[in-house]
Amino acid sequence: MADLRTTFCGIGLKNPVIAASGTFGYGLEFAGQVDFGRLGAIVVKGLSRGPIDGNPSPRLTETPSGMLNSIGLQNVGARAFAKEKLPGLARLGVPIVANVFGFSIEDYVEVLRVLEDADGLSAYELNVSCPNTHRGGLEFGADATTLGAAVSAARSVARRRPLLVKLSPNVTDIAEIARAAAEAGADGLTLINTLRGLAVDARSRTPLLSTGYGGLSGPAIKPVALYMVHRAAQAVDLPIIGAGGVATGEDVAEFLLCGATAVQVGTASFWDPGRTAALAAELNSFLDAQSVASAGELRGALEMP
Ligand code: FUM
Repeated sequence: MADLRTTFCGIGLKNPVIAASGTFGYGLEFAGQVDFGRLGAIVVKGLSRGPIDGNPSPRLTETPSGMLNSIGLQNVGARAFAKEKLPGLARLGVPIVANVFGFSIEDYVEVLRVLEDADGLSAYELNVSCPNTHRGGLEFGADATTLGAAVSAARSVARRRPLLVKLSPNVTDIAEIARAAAEAGADGLTLINTLRGLAVDARSRTPLLSTGYGGLSGPAIKPVALYMVHRAAQAVDLPIIGAGGVATGEDVAEFLLCGATAVQVGTASFWDPGRTAALAAELNSFLDAQSVASAGELRGALEMP
């Protein structure tokens, strides 16, 4: 048996496979379908200052090897999350990461203030990369200066726990953006969020999503995610969580080779709710077959030409 344990920003994970924000609800919805003991951690749906209903349907559509979404950050709000969801989640015995969303810097700060008062969380993941909103999200993640301001403000409030920053692929130079997050005080990075996309119904001559544009995820974006993880890992000395099309144990290995310490699984949960929990065993089989004693041995070991 290979050693799958890893440490991310001081948090011990039993394996490097994490359920990604937005595709695993508040975790508890998966009770009975998923053995939580097989997960490295759970990241909950982005939390905002107040509740958000999200965008009208249709807000999800399948694409070749992927999925386009424009959920619109539907969530119960940080206060309701802390009161109603977090106590049950904290009892699962899995590290819980809160994904934090804001329409403004003040919103991010306020959400973090609410969560700082709550017990049961292991880390924060700052969402500066959601493409499905006209304000906030990617508005803060697309430019190094604006990103730095958002991360600095969040850093000044996030005192109890590590602060991860979830980066967008919708940028010109991911290395510059990763450096800006590091310089502003991020403890770790998650990348990537979804790629902006458009799906079209040629017969009705309309977009398939009610909002027109959406965010593309799934196996179709894995090469982009691997590239960006590799570039960011070269640019900064921060632990990185890779995300984007992870669906098999071998995918996990690929992200580790590119410099990730852990991975997040998102879209795969839509075709198989148990996929995330199956990946640690698959990674173990892959490592055994390769005679690799621990997942950590793969980290950054990609041999580039
Ligand atoms: O629309 C959404 O809720 C997506 C969020 C995200 O990509 O972070």
